[in-house]
Amino acid sequence: MDLENPAAAQTSEEQAGQRLWTAVDRYISERLLPPDPALDAALEASAAAGLPAIAVSPNQGKLLHLLARIHGAHSILELGTLGGFSTIWLARALPPGGRLLTLEVNSKYAEVARANIVRAGLAELVELRTGPALEALPRLAREGLGPFDLIFIDADKQNIPEYFEWALKLSRRGSLIVTDNVVRAGALADPACADPRAEGARRFHELLAAEPRVSATTIQTVGLKGYDGFTLALVGEPS
Ligand code: DHB
Ligand code: MG
Repeated sequence: MDLENPAAAQTSEEQAGQRLWTAVDRYISERLLPPDPALDAALEASAAAGLPAIAVSPNQGKLLHLLARIHGAHSILELGTLGGFSTIWLARALPPGGRLLTLEVNSKYAEVARANIVRAGLAELVELRTGPALEALPRLAREGLGPFDLIFIDADKQNIPEYFEWALKLSRRGSLIVTDNVVRAGALADPACADPRAEGARRFHELLAAEPRVSATTIQTVGLKGYDGFTLALVGEPS
């Protein structure tokens, strides 16, 4: 799918590619993801409330969950809650006493997410704050919250570099910062694409290139959400 212009007509080759990626995503999730009433209910409630269908895919949610467990994360910060689908995957990776703080700009989305998080039995672990992340983040820093072990950046894409700068301030040596949607159907490597979201992804990579405090890589992905990718950045480990 052309993430910069989803309405654009796809060529038959692109349609065949998307069908194959979707079929493989389904093949994997049918085998590796057991039935999960709380996650299914979260997606159903999100769709019923009219939220955009842009949550991470189930297989990507599992990846976030595994990253948090591999990392032994006790504290997680998420930017962009949407309906709470990735929030649930991440919060389930926390050990007893672990905490997840998630930020959502849209109060209607936040209301749906809150109900989904309660239904998943995670309300005790998760705090959801409503409002623009660029206002919430300085407040978190002033409150002395953090450093967070894992930070997942999945809010509006034009501000990714600003979010990453705040993520660094709220990190320690060894924190892991995961940033979603940075390849954008290849627009990342197309300087002619003036979409502010693609520009956000390119500015982010320029920032990473000049940032001695992180070691990072970006991995391209295909699947039911089309062609995109995510960045892993380890803090305090010069590349
Ligand atoms: C969009 C946002 C996302 O976080 C995502 O994973 C896919 C698409 C969007 O805003 O279009
Ligand atoms: Mg995303």
